Amino acid sequence: MNFLDRLNTTIRSNQSLINVITFEENRFLTMLSESTLFKDKNIITWDLGDGFFPLKGDFGGIKNRDRTDPIICLQEIKKFKGNVIFVLRDFHLHFRESIILRSLRNLNHDLQFTKKTIILTTPSATLPLELREDISQLELELPAYAEIEKELDSIVVSAAQGKPPTPQLKEKIIESTLGLSMVNIKNLFSKIIITHGSIDERAIEIILLEKRGIIKKGEILEFFPVHESLNDIGGLENLKAWLRKRSQVFTRKAKDYGLPAPKGILIIGIQGTGKSLAAKATAGLWKLPLLRMDLGKVFGSLLGESEQNLRQAINLAETISPCILWIDELEKAFAGSSGSAGDGGTSARILGTFLTWMQEKTKPVFIIATGNDVAQLPPELMRKGRFDEIFFVDLPSNSERQAIFKVLLEKVRPVIRQFDLVKLADATTDYSGAEIEQIIYDAMFNAFDDNQREFTEADILASVNEIIPISRLMSEKIDGLKAWAAQRTRKANSES
Ligand SMILES: Nc1ncnc2c1ncn2[C@@H]1O[C@H](COP(=O)(O)OP(=O)(O)O)[C@@H](O)[C@H]1O
Ligand SMILES: [Mg+2]
Repeated sequence: MNFLDRLNTTIRSNQSLINVITFEENRFLTMLSESTLFKDKNIITWDLGDGFFPLKGDFGGIKNRDRTDPIICLQEIKKFKGNVIFVLRDFHLHFRESIILRSLRNLNHDLQFTKKTIILTTPSATLPLELREDISQLELELPAYAEIEKELDSIVVSAAQGKPPTPQLKEKIIESTLGLSMVNIKNLFSKIIITHGSIDERAIEIILLEKRGIIKKGEILEFFPVHESLNDIGGLENLKAWLRKRSQVFTRKAKDYGLPAPKGILIIGIQGTGKSLAAKATAGLWKLPLLRMDLGKVFGSLLGESEQNLRQAINLAETISPCILWIDELEKAFAGSSGSAGDGGTSARILGTFLTWMQEKTKPVFIIATGNDVAQLPPELMRKGRFDEIFFVDLPSNSERQAIFKVLLEKVRPVIRQFDLVKLADATTDYSGAEIEQIIYDAMFNAFDDNQREFTEADILASVNEIIPISRLMSEKIDGLKAWAAQRTRKANSES
């Protein structure tokens, strides 16, 4: 049911006090006055600045039209005769006065079997305790696809410059504005026209930048700039294939086709094997904003604060969606959640909130969680159905190490240089991608230090021995991890 249908049902079921939560007041009023659902009703607004104003229909018998005293406002509403919706703007500013609270509750009773409804528009959902029972709350969702499409079409027609966007581009643009308010979207479209003269590929960049602006206000979430693509990952072909197959999954076509939106993946493996890199590359591949959640910051010091922090972060991510929510090193946050960790059960409750959200979320927020140590992860997280898939990233195979050397060397020496990749891979059994990167940098430092000469294969091979791979230091632990993973996970690396 869409917002207006829900509002209509609420009104017809004799609810006389309704709280509409939105910071898009004008959009709400336009929707209300244009909707045929309420065509038999007068719509009268009231606010502190102007008093009463008939948005649709007339004043009826209101005498004190321009009185801006909230008590007089409520008295006039009580006396009013007719079929009407009163929209009181910013009325929450008066909630601190007890006489207002009492009058509202009385009115709720008086209005019950009349054709009068009071709607209070407020930017957030907090109601005083006294009113909670009397008021129904409805949240006006942000503009949906069709509404934005209408706006974009009208802009394209009126701009009439350059080529009109292709259907694919149009869809991409509309999708990337989802989560913004209509005012925001209108401003963005004008900004795009002013900056580029027409609506083309560059529009997406401007929109993502705008979304980034919203995120700055949150602390737990960080907007993570993405420059990576799948080409930056050497090996991990199974994971890459999985991700490639889903690159269209948040599009409208996929939805119309009936594909369920994927929930997310958990990537487990020892450190330095490219898990964080994979999260970044996914955002690059899917061209979605990447939000990194710092779970450490979720845990506030005051009782109950942590859950509120998490809720806020989740809301923000849903506002930005479609997006990727990246939770790095999951075990750091949830290490204490199953035992009696002495934090008063906070981490267990946070975990509960998080799991519930994962289970029930409908917004396209794709979670990528990474973890180094399964022993510290709560088993609930890994139960079937939470994540779409749990991937295990093993140490790179010989052919994967060749691919990693190739990717990393091409980064520091984009002009083609020949290195014997087979030889390099043979020398680095049990080394992780991060360690291979370290080896290359060491070789470069050494050569640079030696009269700034160009580094060679021999320099790289010499550096190999300077680093002891952690896999050797913790081979037992890795064996345990592998045995665990064999039962429960899909391989990120390809079979060969
Ligand atoms: N498979 C890989 N391909 C290319 N580079 C890699 C790979 N694995 C690791 N690296 C390099 O090591 C760095 C650190 O890896 P990271 O993704 O942070 O590891 P993890 O998150 O698994 O601990 C990466 O930024 C990248 O430069
Ligand atoms: Mg990492």
